[in-house]
Amino acid sequence: MVNIGVLISGSGTNLQAIIDAIDKGLIKGNIKVIISNRKDAYGLERGKKANIESIFIDPKGYSNEEYGRILVQELKKRDVELVVLAGFLKILSKDFIAAYRNQIINIHPSLIPSFCGKGYYGEKVHRAVLDYGVKYTGATVHFVDEGADTGPIILQEVVKVDNNDTVETLREKVLRVEHKILVEAIRLYCEGKITIEGRKVIINRE
Ligand code: GAR
Repeated sequence: MVNIGVLISGSGTNLQAIIDAIDKGLIKGNIKVIISNRKDAYGLERGKKANIESIFIDPKGYSNEEYGRILVQELKKRDVELVVLAGFLKILSKDFIAAYRNQIINIHPSLIPSFCGKGYYGEKVHRAVLDYGVKYTGATVHFVDEGADTGPIILQEVVKVDNNDTVETLREKVLRVEHKILVEAIRLYCEGKITIEGRKVIINRE
């Protein structure tokens, strides 16, 4: 069983998908702790309802490096081996990434390398997709490196953009795909079926 730590900032629907998949026995892992950088993140309630330790760690008064050190301390204290960013809208410090190299997974609501990087998060991504007029968008699960959304890609899935889509309808469609590929990536990781070769992620599905 892999010890998982989930970092969130908001509603936590991706977190819920992970909790549900673990409950169904689909993932060989356990969530040891949920950490939010926002006090009012609804994901904390979801965690508590599932009897998982769910804590708010206030970033106020800390530099990003200091905050990163605190997060790593809390995760290591609980023997976390895989960190999942499930709508965690804060850039991780370099030391954090070094402490969990190739052990941090992020979900992003577009087909990276489109509509990603600095400033592209949450609904802003869907707004940009609609403004640009692309016909397809989607979701990406990737490992986290020092850049913004630049790490090796694990899974992606396409979502069609329809003429009458709004930020809200697109968000809903993309979220459904996010939940699916995030759970699948965690499942594969926990079963040791993922290897990284440079920028490429090799998935061994046998
Ligand atoms: C999700 O759409 C996730 O992909 C996005 O925030 C949302 C969180 O929703 N993350 C990013 O934009 C990261 N750059 P949730 O709290 O309901 O899981």
